[in-house]
Amino acid sequence: MNTKMISSLVCALGLAAFTTLVSAEQAAAAADNGMSFDDKLKACGACHGEKGDKPLAPDYPMLAGQHADYITQSLKNYRDGRRTHPIMSMQVKALGLTDADMVKLGQYFAGQTGLTTLNIK
Ligand code: HEC
Repeated sequence: MNTKMISSLVCALGLAAFTTLVSAEQAAAAADNGMSFDDKLKACGACHGEKGDKPLAPDYPMLAGQHADYITQSLKNYRDGRRTHPIMSMQVKALGLTDADMVKLGQYFAGQTGLTTLNIK
């Protein structure tokens, strides 16, 4: 490995560290919006139903009985822009959902009785 390769490697590592730092700061800033987990959960209820089983409109998805991992991953995808939707992408930002919130939301809605759970049993 020559000096040029080493310096570009160092540069890339530095950039990666910087990117991680910025996103951690952004996450902390977003999380610090003064909303409790319960308030965030209530906000979901306005469109998905309190238990995630009464979507406001036919094209709003059922969350009740969905796999927890699927819900958590979908929320992360909206946050990180891997999945975009004008309403949901905005919700995730406005509510300042943290990774921990997303895990808890997944567990909460997965634990509710939904169409999937009703049909299986
Ligand atoms: C203003 C209405 C509204 C609010 C509030 C809202 N959602 Fe949504 N949500 C939607 C709509 C509409 C979609 C469908 C988006 C799409 O097709 O990508 C959706 C999609 C989703 C999905 C993807 C489901 C799937 O089947 O792929 C998840 C997970 C989700 N919402 C969770 C939440 C959680 C958790 C909250 C609260 C933090 C929340 N939503 C708040 C309207 C809302």
